Amino acid sequence: MAIALFVWHFLSPLPFVWRLHQVIRSLLSPFGKIIDRIPRTPPGEERTLLDLGCGHGIFLALARRMRPGLSLVGIDLDAEKIRQARQAFTKAKISGHQLAVMSIADFPEGTADYVAILDVMYLVPLVLWAGILKTCYDSLKPGGLLLLKEMNTGKPAKLAVLKLEETLAVNILGITKGEETSFTFPSPEEIRKQLQSIGFEVEEIPLDRGYHVPHMLWIGHKPSSPDDPPLS
Ligand SMILES: C[S@@+](CC[C@H](N)C(=O)[O-])C[C@H]1O[C@@H](n2cnc3c(N)ncnc32)[C@H](O)[C@@H]1O
Repeated sequence: MAIALFVWHFLSPLPFVWRLHQVIRSLLSPFGKIIDRIPRTPPGEERTLLDLGCGHGIFLALARRMRPGLSLVGIDLDAEKIRQARQAFTKAKISGHQLAVMSIADFPEGTADYVAILDVMYLVPLVLWAGILKTCYDSLKPGGLLLLKEMNTGKPAKLAVLKLEETLAVNILGITKGEETSFTFPSPEEIRKQLQSIGFEVEEIPLDRGYHVPHMLWIGHKPSSPDDPPLS
C-alpha cells in the first residue's frame, strides 16, 4: 500500500485515468520485491540504474526512494509516457535522471550498474532478444545485474489471464505500445539459455505468489572477473 500511495503522489501531474492505471499497476506488480534485489549504495557513492521500457518512470522513482544513491536513466518507445514521466520527476523534485524516447532495440551501449527490463520483452519479437540482451551485458559494469521480469509460461492458468489482460491493453485499448501486436512469451528454459549464452550467471525467481499472473524475475549476474566462480 505504501508503494501505491507513493505512485499516486509521484504521478500527480498526470491525468486522473493514467494515475489510477499506474497505481493499480503498482499493486499488481512485485516492484518492491524486484528493488529488494538491488544492492544498497554505500554512502557517498553513486550507482546507475538503466530502465529499458520505463513507461511513466514509476520503477525508477521507487528504486531511488528505496535505494538512495542511484542515478536514473530511462527509455521508452512511447513519447507521451516519457513526456509525462519528465513532468512527474520535475514536480517530485527528483534530480539525477535522464529520460529518452527510444526503442529498446536501438539503445546504444552505455555504462550501468543495473539494467531493468520489466514487462517489455514480451512486446519485442524473439529474433531481437539476443542482440538486446547482449547490449545489456556489454553496458553493465563487471559485477553488474540485469533484472529481467517476464512471465512464467510454466503456469498456464495464470498465463491465460495475463494474455487476456494484455490483449485488452495492447490490441483493444492501445494503453501499451509495442513494436508489434503479437506477444512473445518464451519458456523459462529459453530465457535462461539466452542469458547464459551471452555470459550471464542466471538466477530465476518466481514472484507470482499472491498475484493473479505468473510474474517471474531472471537476474543476470555479469561476472566481476572472467575467473569468478559460478553462482551455486
Ligand atoms: C507493460 S508496460 C511496462 C512499463 C514499465 N516497465 C513497468 O513495469 O511499469 C510496457 C512498456 O514497454 C514500452 N515498450 C514497448 N515496446 C518497446 C520498445 N521496443 N522499446 C522501448 N519501450 C517499449 C511500452 O511503451 C510500455 O511503456
